[in-house]
Amino acid sequence: MSEIQTHTEDGVTTLTLNRVDKKNSLTAAMYGAMADALQAAADDAAVRVLVIQGHATIFSAGNDIADFLNNPPAKDDAPVFRFLRGLAGFPKPIVAAVAGPAVGVGTTLLMHCDLVYAGDNAAFAMPFVNLGLVPEAASSLLAPRLMGHHRAAEMLLLGEPIQAETALEIGLVNRIVPPTEVNALAQQQARKLAAKPLSSLVETKRLMKKGHAALVGQQMMEEAGVFGRMLREPAAREAFTAFMEKRKPDFSKV
Ligand code: COA
Repeated sequence: MSEIQTHTEDGVTTLTLNRVDKKNSLTAAMYGAMADALQAAADDAAVRVLVIQGHATIFSAGNDIADFLNNPPAKDDAPVFRFLRGLAGFPKPIVAAVAGPAVGVGTTLLMHCDLVYAGDNAAFAMPFVNLGLVPEAASSLLAPRLMGHHRAAEMLLLGEPIQAETALEIGLVNRIVPPTEVNALAQQQARKLAAKPLSSLVETKRLMKKGHAALVGQQMMEEAGVFGRMLREPAAREAFTAFMEKRKPDFSKV
């Protein structure tokens, strides 16, 4: 079965991350499939809302570390960057359903969604520094704006996770429900949105994001440049190798 499942019904396109044995970590092929699905949903007048969901036990463990180590995204048109640009610029409402861990891009992608529902088992982490990397998806801009600099520093500098309750408190999620109900709630809210006039949804979303849309694009480009460079440096290679060898990284020499 496909690792990115796409299903469209009643004006709602649902993307399901479906690589549960690898904790829904995302490979270049999966980013490519999601970028294509976003483009198709943006272009299709019959699609009014996008839903992104995972499994009741895992949303996403972020980038597939082995894939990143073997095929670091080199150019602007790398699938991961195509996906992030498509997501940040997606014109229609996006609803996310998160249960279980949301690590790295699993959390940063949520900052580009309009409504986020969480299972009470959800945990959010952006441990880029622990991997010798820097934030992506404009999270270095959007996280401090959303939660304030000091909370963002706990997540982005210390790499500490937050649980669903804290995510609700800081405005990263809209509501918490039992994990097995979160996908259904996202569908229910998506259908409410899909019943509204599309042009009003699109214009309202555009107006809400207009103030920082250009800044988000610039930040994503700058982050991608630094991220791409650091991915090839010793700290990231040690962190990634350590993850694959199931040991703690040793940064004493980098
Ligand atoms: N990339 C590649 N493989 C990953 C992965 C990732 N990001 N996250 C998990 N996996 C794989 C594991 O290697 C393991 O594979 P194996 O069964 O072949 O050994 C499998 O998925 C299960 O992962 P495991 O760590 O045993 O599950 P867990 O339930 O104990 O923990 C997480 C789940 C998400 C907390 C943990 O896997 C994790 O922290 N992953 C790394 C997340 C990360 O740093 N992502 C940032 C990337 S920029």
